[in-house]
Amino acid sequence: MTQKFTFDLQATDGQARTGVISTPRGDIRTPAFMPVGTAATVKAMLPESVAATGADILLGNTYHLMLRPTAERIDRLGGLHKFMNWDKPILTDSGGFQVMSLAGLRKMSEEGVKFSSHIDGSKHMLTPERSMEIQKLLGSDIVMCFDECPALPATDAEVSKSMQMSMRWAQRSRDAFGDRPGHALFGIQQGGVTQDLRAESAEKLREIGFDGYAVGGLAVGEGQEAMFGVLDYAPDMLPTDRPRYLMGVGKPDDIVGAVARGIDMMDCVLPSRSGRTGQLFTRNGVINIKNARHADDPRPLDEACTCPACSNYSRAYLHHVFRSQEMISGMLLTWHNLHYFQELMSDMRAAIAVGAFEAFQKKFHEDRAAGDI
Ligand code: GUN
Ligand code: ZN
Repeated sequence: MTQKFTFDLQATDGQARTGVISTPRGDIRTPAFMPVGTAATVKAMLPESVAATGADILLGNTYHLMLRPTAERIDRLGGLHKFMNWDKPILTDSGGFQVMSLAGLRKMSEEGVKFSSHIDGSKHMLTPERSMEIQKLLGSDIVMCFDECPALPATDAEVSKSMQMSMRWAQRSRDAFGDRPGHALFGIQQGGVTQDLRAESAEKLREIGFDGYAVGGLAVGEGQEAMFGVLDYAPDMLPTDRPRYLMGVGKPDDIVGAVARGIDMMDCVLPSRSGRTGQLFTRNGVINIKNARHADDPRPLDEACTCPACSNYSRAYLHHVFRSQEMISGMLLTWHNLHYFQELMSDMRAAIAVGAFEAFQKKFHEDRAAGDI
């Protein structure tokens, strides 16, 4: 078992990159999409099914797991991988972002953030040091710095002040993480949609030095155009020889646009959450399986898809089990969506490897425009 964490950039095509992150728990092919397993499960999926869709790595959440069942309990039970029966790499988010979106009462200070649990109202504190401790107890392979993601819109002064604190927290995260061979610590760039602040944040992170670099603070309501505007310059501010991770993105067209701009990793609840609400992603666009027009349709969701939902069931059946709120509905629809996202990543990796990413993008957009679904 190698003890190293390495990133091998294998080919570039324009700004798009393909490569492999090697970890002691296995390789992560990039560009990579990480399904979200917030509460030690990718909802409605067995871990072996998640792996069968082509996922090399999952995302877990400090915030949820520290509250329930607690990081100490997971540690006692042998760590998150064993607990949830997933032996490939796990990346954990550091908690601050989830505190801001989920927790009840919150109080932010230089030290960290005090908050009350959305589950039972109990009081907790997260600091860079505590977040590093929790992610270590979980046994996370890729640990994220503790940061603050300011809500947009905000003034430059507000975004700057928040970014400066996140950079001090990044240094504290680095100091607390220490030296853990085979485990990686990623810094998180902030700075909103302001180029100077993004540059300043990137410079601070590079000074501290990380195994990988995330672009944070996006997909928070600024819209695709503004997000792509930032991605036109932000990845280039980060080291070329380290993975670049765009947090919390996104829809298929966001993902393709991000990869075109030099992003290597992404995560989003979209495929799994939409699976449970009946929204299915296909190369021709989104299908809402709840729609009455599927009730008598014997065709599969997507003729070209090899997932179990498309291989073995009709739209009529998927419509029926969705309407009947049968458990198998969430299972089949989530599987299809995760399969679609992973196939998209695999197609992009193949295209970048042979210098055909431009043609890939053209076809991706044509297929969606042509969509009669
Ligand atoms: N998830 C989506 N955006 C962010 C961010 O800016 N920071 C963290 N920690 N997680 C995120
Ligand atoms: Zn399918």
